[in-house]
Amino acid sequence: MSAKRVIAVLGSTGNQGGSVAKIFLNDPKLKKDWTVRAITRDITKDSAKKLESQGAELVAANINDGSSLAKAFSGAAAVFGVTNYWETMSKEGEEQQGRTIVDAAKGAQVQHFIYSSLIDVAKATNGKLAKVYHFDSKAAVEQYARDSGIPATFFQPGFFMSNLPGQMLSQESPDKPWTLALPTPETAPFPMFDAEADTGKFVKAIVLKRDEVLGKRVLGATVYQTPAEILADFKTAFPNAGKDAKFFSLPHEMFTAALKGKGMPDFAAEELLQNFRLMDEGGYFAGEKLDWSLSLLEDKPTTWLEHLKAAKAFQGLN
Ligand SMILES: NC(=O)c1ccc[n+]([C@@H]2O[C@H](COP(=O)([O-])OP(=O)(O)OC[C@H]3O[C@@H](n4cnc5c(N)ncnc54)[C@H](OP(=O)(O)O)[C@@H]3O)[C@@H](O)[C@H]2O)c1
Repeated sequence: MSAKRVIAVLGSTGNQGGSVAKIFLNDPKLKKDWTVRAITRDITKDSAKKLESQGAELVAANINDGSSLAKAFSGAAAVFGVTNYWETMSKEGEEQQGRTIVDAAKGAQVQHFIYSSLIDVAKATNGKLAKVYHFDSKAAVEQYARDSGIPATFFQPGFFMSNLPGQMLSQESPDKPWTLALPTPETAPFPMFDAEADTGKFVKAIVLKRDEVLGKRVLGATVYQTPAEILADFKTAFPNAGKDAKFFSLPHEMFTAALKGKGMPDFAAEELLQNFRLMDEGGYFAGEKLDWSLSLLEDKPTTWLEHLKAAKAFQGLN
């Protein structure tokens, strides 16, 4: 019997990495050939312990520390890499973390590096939207990985469905109508993605179809949906709660003022606004279609209708 291969998973206690760890631990096709090395800064936390109880090996490492990553990647055949802009809100910081991950993966002679990337928005919009730093920084890491020559595939996660329930689709108070409030027109296309449920499905396909996807970008989304369609699904699922539900196209100043009111720095509020404007002014994936990425999947991706029916914020609605 040949030894199983190791996939080292960064962000294993988070949405994307957690989804990757879960599918490699549970999918019959994957678990016969692969074992999971779940990486976290804190191997004592509950989410890490849960992975261990399901059969993962836990390894403590920090993406700011190359030597810890060298150990964490040692002997791994594949690495899933994700960086987290929002913890530090630093473009340079995220680029540095990404370069540290790439260097460590290259040093460990990893055969397949999968990085959670995004497009270079400043470039795709010819400088019109030049402040979506958390996209541009991931694109810079992708370029660094390409230049390094490491065998790699770039997974680009779409718009997380989890941003909506109770947040952008919410109720001011129980007597008020449910409102989908976004700083976009009603017709803006959103690439709808269930990060927790579906990142693993895409990464499974990437690993199983390695030769076909090396050097390529795989787009993580089920479908493009407009705010009008997002709301229509809510009304279908909950005819009673949804009967007065409406879309509100948030004026830009109102959107940024609300974020600043919650303590977000000015630059980040403007960054998020431009992030939403991107949907309609260039396209989240720069207008690329989803067909090829979806054709790689063996497992059906989650629809927004399925996601919203299971969302905690909507429990009890009818
Ligand atoms: N929200 C959206 O619609 C959307 C769409 C596309 C992309 N994204 C991107 O998704 C990224 C976040 O990914 P996520 O949602 O999967 O993560 P998440 O659920 O926010 O969790 C963050 C993960 O990163 C790990 N991590 C953070 N800093 C680390 C460090 N210094 N060393 C080692 N591990 C570290 C954490 O591990 P420990 O805490 O256990 O160490 C945790 O597992 C962001 O960069 C964001 O830009 C978001």
